[in-house]
Amino acid sequence: MRPDSAELWRRALPGDSPNFPLCLAPMVGLSHVALRLVLRSYLPAGAKTPWPTEMLSSRKLPQQKIGLTPETARGEDEDVLVPQILGNEEASIRDSVRCLQTWGAAGIDINMGCPVEKALRHNYGVALMGDPAYAAQVVEMTVRHARVPVSVKLRAGPQGDFDFLKNFVGGLKSAGAAWITLHPRTAEQKRRGRADWSQIRRLKRETAGPLVGNGDIQTAEDVFAMLDETGCDMVMAGRALAARPWLLWQVGEDLGWAPPPGKEGREAPRTPLEEGAEYGRALLALIAHSRRYFNEDLALRKVRFHLRTTTPWLTYGHTLMSLSTRARHLEEFAPWVEEFFSAPQEMSPRTDLLS
Ligand SMILES: Cc1cc2nc3c(=O)[nH]c(=O)nc-3n(C[C@H](O)[C@H](O)[C@H](O)COP(=O)(O)O)c2cc1C
Repeated sequence: MRPDSAELWRRALPGDSPNFPLCLAPMVGLSHVALRLVLRSYLPAGAKTPWPTEMLSSRKLPQQKIGLTPETARGEDEDVLVPQILGNEEASIRDSVRCLQTWGAAGIDINMGCPVEKALRHNYGVALMGDPAYAAQVVEMTVRHARVPVSVKLRAGPQGDFDFLKNFVGGLKSAGAAWITLHPRTAEQKRRGRADWSQIRRLKRETAGPLVGNGDIQTAEDVFAMLDETGCDMVMAGRALAARPWLLWQVGEDLGWAPPPGKEGREAPRTPLEEGAEYGRALLALIAHSRRYFNEDLALRKVRFHLRTTTPWLTYGHTLMSLSTRARHLEEFAPWVEEFFSAPQEMSPRTDLLS
């Protein structure tokens, strides 16, 4: 991490400051405890990076048994957790923040990027970008009730209007947002088309404080390209990091970090065959963690959803996917996975990221 970024993080997230330039994106159905634990096993020794949850409804959270729901289950040793909330009402935000702090949140992230119909109807998620003054109030009320830093994840402005974005972010910063994550697609684009990294570059140049860039990262080269081209303080990756969790190891290795604990003396997988074999190992670990943290049905559904998002990178991913749809539970599926990966499998560096 660049020294200026490290300094910005020390101020934004004191005590638990990130020192590594890559983190996982919040993704409904994917960024759960099982995936986080797999990813953490690939984090270089001594590296610290923030960890998301799936987005959590601030309306539901206060009524739930936090830590015991699938979305809030967490591993005992998980640090720097920055759960993401979705909401717009002070009372539920206050109660959610309190629950999450007791649970162990190191920070709270507010979702201002979710474009699904329900979020638009209830005026949260990306709908908040249509009301800059209210969006700033949502940050202000969250900061008032939080003793941990508050960040916001958002999208590009309407029709990619950069001045709108800059003013919008200025309002959030004045309201106390400690850092911003920008996924530079417009609400209308959803996840289609290309993320416009030039918006990240301009926002970094024209605003203060840490900026996390997100969108279309697939390889270690992409991580370094985004850092170089945009000057952002950290790169966030979603789909590709779920598919190749060892991207953390590759990036760490390129930066001179020690291998992840337990992987001393080994090099990160790089070739299509090495990555294909590692996909199998990571999937078996995901299955084991899913069986530990979720009930049988949910564990199978979570693993299937993970496969739907990540198998496009595998040459014969469709075969693996269809095996998972035939399996009745993960106990049955795990040996099929072992058999599938007993033959060499290849993973391609890129897909067209249509999922
Ligand atoms: C299945 C799925 C679920 C997502 N859920 C969320 C979410 O809950 N909160 C959020 O801020 N973004 C969500 N996103 C968007 C990602 O955080 C990220 O911005 C987007 O996938 C672009 O990054 P990528 O190209 O590295 O995947 C989701 C994306 C996917 C694919």
